[in-house]
Amino acid sequence: MDIKEQIDHNLIPQHVALIMDGNGRWAKQRGKDRIYGHENGVKAVRETLEAAGELKIPYITMYAFSTENWNRPKKEVDTLMELLVNTIRNETKELCDKGIRLHAIGNLKSLPEKCLLELKEAVKLTENNNKLNLIIALSYSARWEIVNAVKNILNDFINGNKPIENVDDKIFKKYLSTSDFPDPDLLIRTSGELRLSNFLLWQIAYSELYFTPVLWPDFNREHFFEAVAEYQKRERRFGKTGDF
Ligand code: IPE
Ligand code: IPE
Ligand code: MG
Repeated sequence: MDIKEQIDHNLIPQHVALIMDGNGRWAKQRGKDRIYGHENGVKAVRETLEAAGELKIPYITMYAFSTENWNRPKKEVDTLMELLVNTIRNETKELCDKGIRLHAIGNLKSLPEKCLLELKEAVKLTENNNKLNLIIALSYSARWEIVNAVKNILNDFINGNKPIENVDDKIFKKYLSTSDFPDPDLLIRTSGELRLSNFLLWQIAYSELYFTPVLWPDFNREHFFEAVAEYQKRERRFGKTGDF
């Protein structure tokens, strides 16, 4: 049976987060430069959005560049930023045609100016789209985000003379860059690595984790459906017993 036909449309995850990993290894297997892998990763992004659209998933978050990725060789970082600018520019119309609204999270101030301008423009141009929210994590690290939230909470509470005891997880969530979005139901990581690499540490407290050996440039629509089908087999207990 076609993998898509196995999917229960009453049990669709509302938010799927993806760690898009394995571009470098994919290129190396072909005797090419790592950049070739990044370039070929763009197609997998399109496939994922296509599949998410078909399932009417309202939120997709994609980890595109971590804070730690700044420590890669300058040539790779510069080319990645260039690729990002070009992709955003080339894909904005397609995003609008598909009703996709773009959001960006991360330490965006650290991005090259050209990249930031292009990003802001695409966010603005897509702001009225309402079929799917695409949240791109750029220069993102969960520890950075959490520390940032703590600083802002302290500032607001101390300056506003509000009691710190009132801070709870609902208030904390408001200070995260994902405050407008539900927590991910499903987290997918490609390339066979079994780690989180500083991604959404707060938000994935109860997400279902799915790891696949597929390298990101090979990840396609069917792989996405397979992950969703596997997610639907899981029993999410949220600390309760499985009896009700
Ligand atoms: C993921 O692929 C893309 C980014 C982190 C920007 P990698 O570049 O990490 O590829 P591998 O993990 O080295 O194969
Ligand atoms: C995680 O991949 C970051 C992104 C996919 C953007 P990495 O390749 O940077 O992670 P590590 O270094 O293997 O943990
Ligand atoms: Mg990697």
